[in-house]
Amino acid sequence: MSNTSETNILSKATRPSEAVIRVERYPATSRILHWVVALLVLATWPLGFFIQFTKKEVSLDFYMVHESFGFLVLWFMLLRVGNKLIARPPHPEGPAIQRFAAAAVHGLIYVFLIVMPISGFLATNAHGFPLVWFGLVPVWSPLDKAPDIAGTLSAVHAWSAWILLMLFALHIGAVLLHHVIKRDNTLYRIL
Ligand code: HEM
Ligand code: HEM
Repeated sequence: MSNTSETNILSKATRPSEAVIRVERYPATSRILHWVVALLVLATWPLGFFIQFTKKEVSLDFYMVHESFGFLVLWFMLLRVGNKLIARPPHPEGPAIQRFAAAAVHGLIYVFLIVMPISGFLATNAHGFPLVWFGLVPVWSPLDKAPDIAGTLSAVHAWSAWILLMLFALHIGAVLLHHVIKRDNTLYRIL
């Protein structure tokens, strides 16, 4: 039994009998997790980046919202790893090199979406600012204030942020290549 799902979309065919084709999609759990994490990351990344340009009166709010959204990414990514282990993806399409490139970029995105929240969380604790999630729930940390490693953790977080941005650019570049230039069904696999 397959737990992937299929959907019908309109093709570019001109004859009505050819107008509907079948697309093998990612399972619903994978699609939902993809879009929840994508929305969280698209909010968290710019919030983190703009902290440095904010006035003192609002920067603590920026930190809090950035950190609280970012912390959610960690839990959704752990769910996503669990989901990856049990949910069957659609059959890969395209030549081997393209399949390898897609798997490598997707795999690295998974890695950096786990490294990012963990390094940010440990950095903020090491700097002496434990996370209070959305100002409501104090979050326990295995690390107390530790000024000697705080800088390193911040550097890991900042470098990872730029690597993640590069991976995202490759991801969107590939999506556009498939959808606009090759005009294949790749985008529908995740919708
Ligand atoms: C996927 C999740 C996350 C993303 C994409 C992300 C992204 C970013 C970005 C782009 C920056 C600015 C880097 C720069 O200016 O070069 C930043 C800074 C920062 N982030 Fe995050 N972040 C995430 C999660 C977290 C979490 C969970 C925390 C803490 C609980 C956190 C704490 C911080 C702090 C304190 C800074 C300021 C720079 C520093 O001292 O490290 N981030 N983040
Ligand atoms: C903003 C618009 C986005 C679009 C249009 C989009 C589109 C897609 C498409 C079409 C796929 C399926 C690729 C395939 O079948 O080989 C996919 C998968 C994937 N996307 Fe996105 N994506 C977006 C945002 C993001 C973001 C922000 C991230 C994370 C930073 C992300 C991470 C992933 C990952 C890791 C996969 C692999 C699926 C899995 O195994 O969980 N995407 N995306």
